[in-house]
Amino acid sequence: MCGIYGYVGSNAISKTLNGIKKLEYRGYDSSGIAFFSDTFKLNNLIKNYNNNVTTFKNGINIIKEQGEISKLEKIINVLNPKSETAIGHTRWATHGKPNIKNAHPHFSENGNWVVVHNGIIENYDELKNGLTSYNFSSSTDTEVVAMMLSKFFNGNVLETIVNVCSKLVGSYAFAILNYKEPNKIFVAKNNSPVVVGYGENFGVVCSDLNSVEQTKSLFILENNQFAVVEKNNVEVFNNKLEKINLKPFKDFNSESENSLGNYKHFMLKEINEIPKAIEKTVVNYNSFEKIKKAIPKSLIKKLKNILIIGCGTAYHAGLIGKKLIEEQCGIKTDVEIASEFRYNNFKPNKNTLAIFVSQSGETADTIKAVKMSKAYGLKTVAITNVKNSSICFEVDYVIHTCAGKEIAVASTKAYNAQITIFYLLKAYINAVLNDQPELVFEESKNLIKIANVIKNNKISEQTKQIALKIKDCKSVYLIGRGLDYYTAMEAGLKLKEISYIHCEAYPAGELKHGTISLIDENKYLFAFVTQEITKEKTISNINEVISRGGKVIVLSQFNINNNDFNEFIALPKIDQLYMPLVAITYMQLISYYVSVALNYNPDKPRSLAKSVTVE
Ligand code: G6P
Repeated sequence: MCGIYGYVGSNAISKTLNGIKKLEYRGYDSSGIAFFSDTFKLNNLIKNYNNNVTTFKNGINIIKEQGEISKLEKIINVLNPKSETAIGHTRWATHGKPNIKNAHPHFSENGNWVVVHNGIIENYDELKNGLTSYNFSSSTDTEVVAMMLSKFFNGNVLETIVNVCSKLVGSYAFAILNYKEPNKIFVAKNNSPVVVGYGENFGVVCSDLNSVEQTKSLFILENNQFAVVEKNNVEVFNNKLEKINLKPFKDFNSESENSLGNYKHFMLKEINEIPKAIEKTVVNYNSFEKIKKAIPKSLIKKLKNILIIGCGTAYHAGLIGKKLIEEQCGIKTDVEIASEFRYNNFKPNKNTLAIFVSQSGETADTIKAVKMSKAYGLKTVAITNVKNSSICFEVDYVIHTCAGKEIAVASTKAYNAQITIFYLLKAYINAVLNDQPELVFEESKNLIKIANVIKNNKISEQTKQIALKIKDCKSVYLIGRGLDYYTAMEAGLKLKEISYIHCEAYPAGELKHGTISLIDENKYLFAFVTQEITKEKTISNINEVISRGGKVIVLSQFNINNNDFNEFIALPKIDQLYMPLVAITYMQLISYYVSVALNYNPDKPRSLAKSVTVE
């Protein structure tokens, strides 16, 4: 995981700092920057900052800090160093605690090499055993690579890098500095995305196509490729050190940074953007012809099964998709967690359409699952929010959610947009199978109505009150049946990831088979009752919890409120099929308010990252 940014040119340090700030969604345990500067003797200036590690060796400075990049930025602003070559890194810890010592960049012991790394070196332990005479200062796999570069140095920097990479097992994107080449950044890639480019008087390297600045020429490196980045030039090589003429990537449109506007947090802003996210997604696919361009009719005609794959929130969206497609189109649909699918010994039949849901389009588990599905001979579709993300280059067809950039780690508007796509897909499948193209337009009208319901729904006060009520409880349970169960799962994930309250979602009927023994007067239960067919049964399950002293908060559009409920959230009376789009908005807000009431930063929950690029 982690983010890499490097820059050769004027103001390399501030450019690199801004670059890694854009990559903070990949992790924010610690960050660091390395830059060439003969004159900047950092260690003398740094005495006030006894917490952070700064090192100066062979004309290269490194500054690192624990925690968010803003902390690193503060130091850099005070010291104000200048350089024309810098590499930076924002980390999500894999090997070693998220402390300063383990923060990247890493020097080799002799200070001749500096490495930042995205990915995991799986054989690092074995390699470290061959480096017993070297003194390591971190527990990372990356430092092993820095030491190997110094051990195997043969006088040629690029050759040495290629040689060392041939000994590595795992995934990596590296940006590397060598003390004798102060105007160059060396780059290597295997299974972790990285792009390189240059423009007027600068060269750049970045681990995300959408976070790199405007360049004259930009290249997406492929596995086992190496690059040398300089001002005004980039050269790419294969692992035989032959020069490759990669085609510059054209369809490139760097997204501008989102600002908070009048909101305190991105999460709140993004929840408020849900109606717009639904509308924009619908407008993109509101006719048979428009969806047909994304997924050909012929593909739908011959499909027998659907397999939906994703992680986290995207997986939950997939569950809603399954229910819609299976029940409304009669097509057997399975949903798999990407990291589980990889190791399942189950081969789907060839007429299965594999649909991958990923907000970022960068999730390593999901991308691996795409590769496996292709190896099985399946046709693949990605539903993603990020144009030109890695997944788009892997699949046969792409459907874009148009939620706009999502910055808060806890996904909100992207989830609603993903579900929106499943409603449209359901309509499209039925349109193709029953030869009724108008179904897509009808569905899009329904969805726009729902977007308006959400827009006009004033739910802030009640959700705030409920948040204050539950903020100090130790455990929350969430139940529902069918679509409601899937909403409960996503609601539980939202609440736990930003409030750190233990949450468990259960199918309402399953609670009594074990988990109900945990219910007492200190536990809250959220119950979703939005489907007529399961209403009565779920009410019985709610009563079972009330009898055991549990405090119950019910969300329903039916008139079922009674005095035994601790709280009742009256949902708008809409067609129950669309309830997943609406009911979750209450829980997204409640989660947000709980997190704020507990003085956490809902945008950057501990230990998480927006995009998880390691398996
Ligand atoms: C991370 C995020 C989750 C997200 C999941 C899948 O774990 O913290 O919010 O749902 O990855 O991400 P994707 O970008 O593939 O939807």
